[in-house]
Amino acid sequence: MDIVKKLIEDTYPEVVAWRRDFHMYPEISGAEQRTAGKIAEILKKLPMEVQENAGGYGVIGLLRGSKPGRTIALRADIDALPIKEQNDHGFASKHEGKMHACGHDGHTAILLGTAVILSRLKDEIAGNIKFIFQPSEEQAPIGGALPMIEAGALENPQVDAILGLHIWPNLEKGKVGVKNGALMASSDPITIEVFGRNGHASAPHEGVDALVAGCQIVNTLQTIISRSINPQEAAVITIGKMQSGTKYNVISDYAKLEGTVRTLNPEVRRKVEQRIREVVSGVCQAAGVRGEVNYAYGYPALLNDSKMSDLLREVAHEILPKEALTEIEKPAMGGEDFANYLQKVPGAFFWLGSEEQASYPIHHPKFDFDENIMKTGMEIMANSAIRYLGKESSHE
Ligand code: NI
Repeated sequence: MDIVKKLIEDTYPEVVAWRRDFHMYPEISGAEQRTAGKIAEILKKLPMEVQENAGGYGVIGLLRGSKPGRTIALRADIDALPIKEQNDHGFASKHEGKMHACGHDGHTAILLGTAVILSRLKDEIAGNIKFIFQPSEEQAPIGGALPMIEAGALENPQVDAILGLHIWPNLEKGKVGVKNGALMASSDPITIEVFGRNGHASAPHEGVDALVAGCQIVNTLQTIISRSINPQEAAVITIGKMQSGTKYNVISDYAKLEGTVRTLNPEVRRKVEQRIREVVSGVCQAAGVRGEVNYAYGYPALLNDSKMSDLLREVAHEILPKEALTEIEKPAMGGEDFANYLQKVPGAFFWLGSEEQASYPIHHPKFDFDENIMKTGMEIMANSAIRYLGKESSHE
């Protein structure tokens, strides 16, 4: 494993330069043209097959080892956010109103560095490593993972396992956070429309009030989590927006509610959807209005495979200081479209701690991280891939 450490030290200055370049020229979801071009340019200098425009601006590098074996994929997301940066370091965003405020510049640089390192070790590798650079992670509910999967990212050769990471300011700097099972939540947008009939405000009995029905729906939805879901399970229903009415003296004929549902367990997800439909239907029937529910499936819950999490644990335990490996106890209720890959192949997602004094949360205009943690990211990624491919192929 010392050879990996040495290669990381050699590659690190370049990795920092790449990260800063991506940071200076952030591109939001679906517009990652320059970013993808730069990634492809770097990969093409390595002994690998490079596929561009995979499901949008996705880039895939395929490194074939000198001997046959299994295939592991390593994934990074590459998109930025429509946020105006408030950092004033020398590599702050030059794209007005856009910023890498979620660390995806770091994820991309880490994976490029890992690609360089593993390319140097090609002769000792049995099997293949796929480097998946994915756009549009921030573009829920569709995201960038599904279009890449549809474009064949997990085929030719068939991917047997996948790993990914996220820089995480809620976890101490230098720590690696692992967890079996649910690490992040499903994230489903919902829209509810209520149709009534206009009337004069002074004669409510002559109209059918969609606004009052909409309010009742918002209230009754609050009982789903508290009355229909096992208290041991985590779930959120939030209606964040409601629009109804045109004038103070007119009975409203229409209401539109928009919100989001977060769950960690697919069964709970189905139950929440079913209860939302029942509540809307029942309230609407009582109020004499017509209701329509549009429940869209966004990112599924991110469910780590325990064997792949164990692989991360073994590697972290072996190469990092003892206190670095951290068991995550509570999942985050945010969504992440890495979950889509995990519905197809076993894998694990881990958090790379970046917390220090006065650090800002992800999606904050002052978000930043200590670049040294990228070394830890590369170490875990590279060593995990080597260890996975080195293991006997046993599809238990
Ligand atoms: Ni992110």
